[in-house]
Amino acid sequence: MRVQWYAYLAFCLVVALLGWGAQATSDRDYYEVLGVKPSATQQQIKSAYRKLSIKYHPDKNPDDANATSKFSELAEAYGILSDEEARRKYDRFGKEGLNEHGRGSGGADPFDIFAQFFGGGGGGGGSFFGFEQQETQGPDLHIPLEVTLAELYMGHTVEYDVSKQVLCEHCHGSGAENPSDINTCTSCKGQGIKVVQQMLMPGFYQTMQSPCDVCSGTGKVIGTKCSRCHGNKVERTNEPLTVEITAGMPDRHRIAFERHADHSPEWDVPGSVVFHLRTRPHPRFTRDGNDLHLNYTISLLQALSGFETSFTHLDKTTRVDLKRPNAVTPPGFVQKIKGQGMPHFEEHSGVSADGAGDLYVHYTVEFPESVTSANRAILKTVLSATIKASNAIHDEL
Ligand SMILES: *[C@@H]1O[C@H](CO)[C@@H](O)[C@H](O)[C@H]1NC(C)=O
Ligand SMILES: *[C@@H]1O[C@H](CO)[C@@H](O)[C@H](O)[C@H]1NC(C)=O
Ligand SMILES: [Zn+2]
Ligand SMILES: [Zn+2]
Repeated sequence: MRVQWYAYLAFCLVVALLGWGAQATSDRDYYEVLGVKPSATQQQIKSAYRKLSIKYHPDKNPDDANATSKFSELAEAYGILSDEEARRKYDRFGKEGLNEHGRGSGGADPFDIFAQFFGGGGGGGGSFFGFEQQETQGPDLHIPLEVTLAELYMGHTVEYDVSKQVLCEHCHGSGAENPSDINTCTSCKGQGIKVVQQMLMPGFYQTMQSPCDVCSGTGKVIGTKCSRCHGNKVERTNEPLTVEITAGMPDRHRIAFERHADHSPEWDVPGSVVFHLRTRPHPRFTRDGNDLHLNYTISLLQALSGFETSFTHLDKTTRVDLKRPNAVTPPGFVQKIKGQGMPHFEEHSGVSADGAGDLYVHYTVEFPESVTSANRAILKTVLSATIKASNAIHDEL
């Protein structure tokens, strides 16, 4: 019993401290803004917002700047307290807790909240309180990049000039000659949306929104157009990118350069330039994952009497020994040479790893085109002993 009593006391102390911390950092308590108790029900919160938002609506108080900020404050408070999850976080951690959990209401438009509250359809995409608004990204630019098997075997660096669209260097995407040429659109008062008003109740209107046709939804009209881009806001340029091909990268591997694709004032950040590796077929080697396969032709004499030879690997310098001393090598015979395949590459970390795959040598035997009658006689003598019983059986069938 004692333990529980202490635990309860500690819990209360923590709650009190957190509460005090929140009070100390917030401008004004959301409950205070709406004039309700922290224990208020959703119905009481709604009712308070209805009453106060009408009272302080800027349409009703055109000459009072304080009303606009009060109206925004009300919308912010209502936005949080009407959302059970956000309210719980606010109760525990204060406004800081909301920001910390990515639930700040800074992006919410108080007029949207008002319109939504009074049965409006809301408008223009985005979620109710703007909580889910993320930075918008332009499309990715995909570029196939042909590489040789040798380049993948050794690693390689490719300099690639990417032609792309960037924001105009002079106007930074505004399209205006000077910042002073960027004027707020008078048609939509800079909202970027044409407001069609629909009466909700005498004196109050719901705003139905469509993009403003005067400013194309940007909220800005340009006086003197930018002399560099002639108001196009963007220009084309070439960007040299250095593509590092790490030894062992697989075919179709993607190498991305984030935020290096086309930029436009229509989105916050550019997408990625993504290079897709394509392996050009090699005349001698084929690849299967980390393993390599090589066709190797030997003479009939080598096939029958064994051999020791070597070949040059993909790097054009390493000599790899092929040895089958005193052994018979039939056509199609496959010899595995450990560790002479492709270097290991770690997909996750994007670096070369220790070790390599194996090399499989597929033997082809080159037969002589003809044999002289004298040699035929010798071969019969030499090879008759090697004719297997199974062939004799085969002859009888
Ligand atoms: C607006 O608020 C300021 C500071 O709170 C105050 O001094 C001023 O009188 C207010 N204006 C009106 C029109 O209420
Ligand atoms: C190796 O030989 C096989 C079978 O004859 C053939 O299908 C394959 O294309 C050859 N590989 C190369 C790289 O020439
Ligand atoms: Zn420009
Ligand atoms: Zn406009």
